[in-house]
Amino acid sequence: MSNIESVLNEVRVFEPSAEFVKQANVSGMQAYQALCKAAEQDYPGYWANLARETLQWKKPFTKSLDESNAPFFKWFEDGELNVSYNCLDIHLAERAEKTAIIFESDDGKVSKVSYRELHGRVSQFANGLKSRGIGKGDRVVIYLPMSIEAVVAMQACARIGAIHSVVFGGFSAKSLHERITDAKACAVITADAQMRGGKQMPLKPIVDEALATGGCESVHSVIVYRRSGNNVEWNDGLDIWWHDLFNSQPTHCEPEWVGAEHPLFILYTSGSTGRPKGVQHSSAGYLLGAMLSMKWVFDYKDSDIFWCTADVGWVTGHSYVAYGPLAMGATQVVFESVPTYPDAGRFWKMVQDHKVTTFYTAPTAIRSLIKLGGELPKQYDLSSLRLLGTVGEPINPEAWMWYYNTVGQGRCPIVDTWWQTETGSHMIAPLPGAMPIKPGSCTLPLPGIMASIVNEAGDEVHDQHGGFLVIKRPFPSQIRTIWGDPERYRKSYFPEEMHGYYLAGDSAHRDDDGYFWIMGRIDDVLKVSGHRLGTMEIESALVANPLVAEAAVVGKPHEIKGEGIVAYVVLKGSRPSDPNKSREIAEDLRNWVSKTIGPIAKPDEIRFGDNLPKTRSGKIMRRLLRAIANGEEISQDVSTLENPAILDQLKNAI
Ligand code: WTA
Repeated sequence: MSNIESVLNEVRVFEPSAEFVKQANVSGMQAYQALCKAAEQDYPGYWANLARETLQWKKPFTKSLDESNAPFFKWFEDGELNVSYNCLDIHLAERAEKTAIIFESDDGKVSKVSYRELHGRVSQFANGLKSRGIGKGDRVVIYLPMSIEAVVAMQACARIGAIHSVVFGGFSAKSLHERITDAKACAVITADAQMRGGKQMPLKPIVDEALATGGCESVHSVIVYRRSGNNVEWNDGLDIWWHDLFNSQPTHCEPEWVGAEHPLFILYTSGSTGRPKGVQHSSAGYLLGAMLSMKWVFDYKDSDIFWCTADVGWVTGHSYVAYGPLAMGATQVVFESVPTYPDAGRFWKMVQDHKVTTFYTAPTAIRSLIKLGGELPKQYDLSSLRLLGTVGEPINPEAWMWYYNTVGQGRCPIVDTWWQTETGSHMIAPLPGAMPIKPGSCTLPLPGIMASIVNEAGDEVHDQHGGFLVIKRPFPSQIRTIWGDPERYRKSYFPEEMHGYYLAGDSAHRDDDGYFWIMGRIDDVLKVSGHRLGTMEIESALVANPLVAEAAVVGKPHEIKGEGIVAYVVLKGSRPSDPNKSREIAEDLRNWVSKTIGPIAKPDEIRFGDNLPKTRSGKIMRRLLRAIANGEEISQDVSTLENPAILDQLKNAI
């Protein structure tokens, strides 16, 4: 690992303009370095000061970091606060009438809510939840389209101390079921359907299917928001319309004051093996990370119109839609639909219409917009933009240059933000008024984030060498545990050889300026259209098909999705010899995966073999399959391979 050299030789550097530096929240490299120094000199004191300045506490804390039960860290533990209070109530004195959310629906209708209205709606819905007996510590699954209601539902949970677990609307009944049962949720909040790209897609019927699978006895309420007006099956004992629950409630709801460490939410994310992991976040530390990164990385100003295009089903939509922007009192855009509807100019039209200043999206979206309409940004007035951001995967330098020149017109710094579901907020990213940026690099760690690169033995590697990306000290916004599985938390993120460092699971290297370059995942998790998918989950779905004996899934570069999915499948009977038959089975299996996990996990290619390359202990060697899928010569050592002859067969597989 430590011998891997970067093949990317990017030398372009872009300095922030004097004008940008002048107005920046952290202005100039020295200001950045001063913050870093403060963190080094008194680490707990540094974070305690920031937590006091940034958050509103009901009961002030006296302790900063508690490492006594590592890696189960606690921050500001004896303090009390409420996250929803910090996002809404604190704005009522000064910006009650300021627009909090500009919502644009699939068909282009725009609705706006002010902070006063949003506070009222969240309180009303929180009261509705309470009327169903839902309260502090209860788990609530949210399976909603992008909407003001999704934000209201999350904030309402936070207000009453309930723990939400948002499930992305593209997930299937099986995935939803897995998450409901793992969290033992008492309620599911959903909609009749969602609208994307002019099409309706059902949501409530998928919830019904998940609940009918059994094992969901913990669920006593299904709250249904009416989006499409379609008829849906109704279960009188369980189901209730959002408007029936909501309308009769008062617009005042006293926040539930909770301890700093009270879980704010669980968000499931794919691990490399087995079940998805329920990443559990705290209240105070999490919100602190979201707010500081808004201020430092997004250089947030009261006059900004902020737009993060992520769905609330992913962590980016938690930190930079549902919490961070609201805590800062921002006006933000929330978008129901997809960037290519009615055409690939939709994002740019919305930037123009809503005068967006700060635009944050994923490399996968950028790649598809380049392909479908690289010239389209020029048709719109994008002069309101002052800052661009990316997240989710490495952005390749040419896509970065297009984003910089064509969207940002050479005027807007790009913040390439490296972070994870587990880190809760940005870890390595430019402070745009402080440091020069380089296409493809996420630059330097945020002040107080002790990121480094180590080898397998946990020892730091020298600059230019690739290695494991780690964070050496605990930080406030990090994962607290895996829901219901503390041992898996410890093993996944704090393996013994890492000396107590947080192991991110990515490989990276640093250049001569100390800039970080992310090289990819060290495990087998796939990154398809910006979403993390475990190979194991897709393989398990394939194996669940009666025809399939074994399957291994690997990624292959895909122009738009970042990674496409190639599945190697061993059928129970013999390998199909007729190409037509083979195509037919492949098509059936692709649809099967789409139905069991969701369309996002649908393999792009399926290839059949008599067996898979395995180690002697029976482990599938995915790295060899990856080489085959990508048409590369196998240069790796194959001496540990049990059945070398299989490689030739798979190379020619159809
Ligand atoms: C990858 C998304 C390179 C990385 C917030 C990480 C990135 C995983 C970047 C987390 C970036 C995220 N450059 N790679 N700027 N941002 N990644 O949990 O592999 O969906 O570990 O969180 O995405 O994905 P997740």
